[in-house]
Amino acid sequence: MLPSDIERLIREAKEAKKKAIAPYSGFRVGAALMTGKGKIYHGCNIENPSLMLSFCAERAALINALVKGEKVFKAMAIVSDNGDYCFPCGACRQMIAEFTPDVEIYLISDKGIKKFSIPELFPYPFKRL
Ligand code: THU
Repeated sequence: MLPSDIERLIREAKEAKKKAIAPYSGFRVGAALMTGKGKIYHGCNIENPSLMLSFCAERAALINALVKGEKVFKAMAIVSDNGDYCFPCGACRQMIAEFTPDVEIYLISDKGIKKFSIPELFPYPFKRL
């Protein structure tokens, strides 16, 4: 059984997904990011007719929290539309690794819930020396 704060985080990721703007792919993604103090920030994917500008839910959640001055994060939940696990893309993994290397990542699908650490998902992030 999951802790109640993680259950809440998962519900929030599903809420965040409702805000997705995905008219081109039809693939809606929601992310919810919980701070160390339990505050939750939403992110959703935001697409653009210039398709390369499309923005992922995970980075949207992170930016949403960072611009509010948040620095410490506990967990992120990610949910998509297709009933399968939505693994964060490489760009999102790089950005999560930079700002929240200790965060727990929960992927929610119709098949169940998977939990990962960032070192598991992205063992060799780019770092500028
Ligand atoms: N997308 C995300 O929001 N997160 C991911 O981890 C992978 C992909 C979005 C980008 C685009 O709007 C849509 O999913 C289809 O690729």
